[in-house]
This record gives sequence, C-alpha cells and structure tokens, in this order.
Amino acid sequence: MSQAKPTVLKIGGSVITDKSKEMEVRMDAISRLADEILEANPKNLIIVHGGGSFGHPLAEKHSIKEGFKDASQIVGFAETHHVMTVLNGLFMDALIWRGLPAVSIPPSSCIMTKNGRIACFDEAPTRKLLEMGFIPVLYGDAVLDTELGFTILSGDQLTSFLALRFNAKNILIGVDVDGLYNEDPKLNAKAKMFEHLTLEELRKVQGLLGGSNACDVTGGMANKIAELIPAIEHGIPVLIVNASKPRYLYKALKGEKVRGTLIEKE
Ligand code: IPE
Repeated sequence: MSQAKPTVLKIGGSVITDKSKEMEVRMDAISRLADEILEANPKNLIIVHGGGSFGHPLAEKHSIKEGFKDASQIVGFAETHHVMTVLNGLFMDALIWRGLPAVSIPPSSCIMTKNGRIACFDEAPTRKLLEMGFIPVLYGDAVLDTELGFTILSGDQLTSFLALRFNAKNILIGVDVDGLYNEDPKLNAKAKMFEHLTLEELRKVQGLLGGSNACDVTGGMANKIAELIPAIEHGIPVLIVNASKPRYLYKALKGEKVRGTLIEKE
C-alpha cells in the first residue's frame, strides 16, 4: 500500500495542562484542540503530546531522567508513567468521543533508550495504524534505558524521531507562545518573533533561546529546537504555532497562513 507522508503534530504540555499547578489539566484547551483536529480532518496524522504538570513534577521529584540510582525511585518511575497515561486518557477521551480514530501507543511499551536517546522502537503497530487510517497518539514518557535503567523521553525527541522514521511531510509544534523569539516573550514584551528561519539562521540564534520558567525536566525551548534539528536537516519543515490560541492549530493543519515560526532547511 503506498502511503502519503504523515504530519507529526506535537502538542506541548504547557497547552494542555496548567504548569503552575500539579496535575492540573486544561480540559477546555484539549476539547478545543480536538474540535480543531476534527474540523481540519487531516489525512495521515501522528500526534505526540507532552507531560506538562502531570509528568514533569513527578519525574523531577524522583530524578527519573538521571536514571536508576536508588530502589526508592522504582515506584517513582511507575507513578511518572502512570500520570502520563492519565493525561493521555483525558486527551484520548476528547478525540475518541468526537469520532476521531485515535489509538494510544504508550512509548514505555515500544521504545527503549540508550543514555537517553531512542535506541529501539517497535514501529510495526504505529506503521500499520497509519496505513489503516488511524491516528497514532504517543506522548513524552518515562521509559526504560539500556544504560541508565530508566529515563525520561521527551515528546520533542520522539516527534523528531517519528518524523524521520515515517518520512514526514512536516512537523507542527503547538506551544503556548506565538513562535520562536530572540528573548522570552513571557518576560520581555519587546521580544521579537522570527517568522521564518533557515537551518543556518536557526543555528545562529540557538544561543538566544531560553530554557523553561516552569517545572520542566526536558529543557524548554532551547532543547525543543535542538531535538528538531535532525528532522530539519533531513528536509522536513517545522512550523511552531500557538496552540493555546483558537484556530491557530486548525489553520496550521489545513496548510493555511497562520502566525508562527517556520523553520526550513534552506
Ligand atoms: C515530558 O514530555 C514527559 C515526562 C516528564 C514524563 P515533554 O518534555 O514532551 O513535555 P512538555 O511538552 O515539555 O510538557
């Protein structure tokens, strides 16, 4: 079966949860995003969502990203994975009850990392789901690691990896700011947004991108961009849009003009 190239959509944890409060879901945002996905009706879509105030606080509390050092972390790993399945369940509810053929794939069951980098991925179920017209939904997760015992796999590393593995047409990154800025727009109202960057220009401004000002074990905007570079190098364009604002994701999925930062190889 010939397969059209998929779009890989990452929805940041800051969009679907309130990062200022532990385990606080933004159900209104999830419902609106599900409406927008339904209306845009994209063919060949893979969704990845972040952890926000579900995964990050527990991952930090139990130092999961740093790997296994102490038996007390074992239950912490289980808890971190579990809260991600809870957030994923809420996200899946919104998609499924609108009639979207979304199927959840827990990364901890099909991926292992080696020193934090994806080393094995059992791709057959995701590939088959895509072929059959389903929407595979994955998420940042606590995963087993061949060297560290376990670690945290960010949704951004996963997004870039899936885009390369499935030869994606494009990557859409939904965040809670309008795009990439030369300074943190939440701290400086005069920060300037980049509308278009080539890979070369991106490398020049990489040093300006900040970390995160909320609890985030996977490293904020700077790390997000570093993770996306291999996909951009491969020629997969990345569009960063504000998924907290109504209709932005819809327009991005439809390929309509929308405010955001487009990053292309050349
Ligand atoms: C983090 O995933 C997952 C866990 C902490 C378990 P992400 O790094 O993709 O999450 P966000 O988008 O930054 O919240």
